[in-house]
Amino acid sequence: MVFLKVALGFLITAFLSATVSLAHPGLGFGWGIGGSPGGQFGAHPFGLFPQFYQFSCPQADNIVMSVLNKAIAKQPRMAASLLRLHFHDCFVQGCDASILLDDSATIASEKNALPNRNSIRGFEVIDEIKAKLEEACPQTVSCADILAMAARGSTVLSGGPSWELPLGRRDSKNASLSSSNTNIPPPNSTLQNLITLFQRQSLDEVDLVALSGGHTIGVARCATFKQRLYNQNGNNLPDLTLEKSYYNGLKSVCPKSGGDNNISPLDFGSPVKFDNLYFKLILWGKGLLNSDQVLLSGNVGNTMELVKAYAEDDKLFFKQFAKSMIKMGNISPLTGFNGEVRKNCRVVN
Ligand code: HEM
Repeated sequence: MVFLKVALGFLITAFLSATVSLAHPGLGFGWGIGGSPGGQFGAHPFGLFPQFYQFSCPQADNIVMSVLNKAIAKQPRMAASLLRLHFHDCFVQGCDASILLDDSATIASEKNALPNRNSIRGFEVIDEIKAKLEEACPQTVSCADILAMAARGSTVLSGGPSWELPLGRRDSKNASLSSSNTNIPPPNSTLQNLITLFQRQSLDEVDLVALSGGHTIGVARCATFKQRLYNQNGNNLPDLTLEKSYYNGLKSVCPKSGGDNNISPLDFGSPVKFDNLYFKLILWGKGLLNSDQVLLSGNVGNTMELVKAYAEDDKLFFKQFAKSMIKMGNISPLTGFNGEVRKNCRVVN
């Protein structure tokens, strides 16, 4: 009898789940077996949870990973670019794929904001993932979730940690160029500046230092660190926290005039490997951006201790990076009936 009741309950649940999915493609409440972390059935009717596409698009992550595998093999820097794309999405009206929208009659694209213009990249890879997902599961997997999956996949393929990724974000119907300019921290930020801008997103100092560890991969343009080489404090002197030989090397990449688009690795020791060398370099005065080096020298809170701890213990860094990525990925998502699942990540439906 008990068995029959359980079996009947299961059938009804499966039926409801299928009905809702059909009525609202892409809504995928994930009702059914193991629908929510902790096993609390129905605990996340409008929240994010890892099994969101379990029934509506079980192959989603495999599709993401197969495109990433090829793209990153062809161009290792792509991993870094995709990780950054998720960050720049989440800091502007939440993780809603607003960064992917192109200019249109109603959209002032975030791609033209100061932190993104001539800098943010990876859109073609997201397009390719989206096209494959639309073929396999039409209008089901949001662009915002694709960004989150691509960021995790890129971290893993670069040798970094993995994490169980909450899913179910929906896509915005608008963008905010002005919030991109005000919410994304500039590279010449003071430590207090960085802490304030992260706090605005409910991220604390631990998140700030761990997530800055994303700079273990990728590159930066000369324009973003030139000030440190030639005029750090408006007195025509360099940033004295720069280690001498590193400083000389950077000057050869980045002359006083011109060369603004020349690039230098954020972690010159292992620029395509996700490891904790980034933190060791900071200890040695070889952080590239002002925002990297001030985590050690800024003298606010306990970021210095955190840099030292992550430099000493890569497992500790990996664990915290994963935790903080989940936290960042949870910034104000659109869920339930809010937003939409775009068919093409560059335009609203
Ligand atoms: C703490 C505040 C941060 C500042 C001020 C900052 C600033 C920058 C700047 C200026 C660049 C180079 C852009 C260019 O040259 O055009 C960059 C690159 C990068 N950032 Fe950040 N960033 C911060 C936090 C983060 C976070 C939280 C992540 C990810 C978790 C991240 C991931 C990356 C990656 C991977 C690159 C290299 C991208 C590529 O090679 O295409 N950054 N960042």
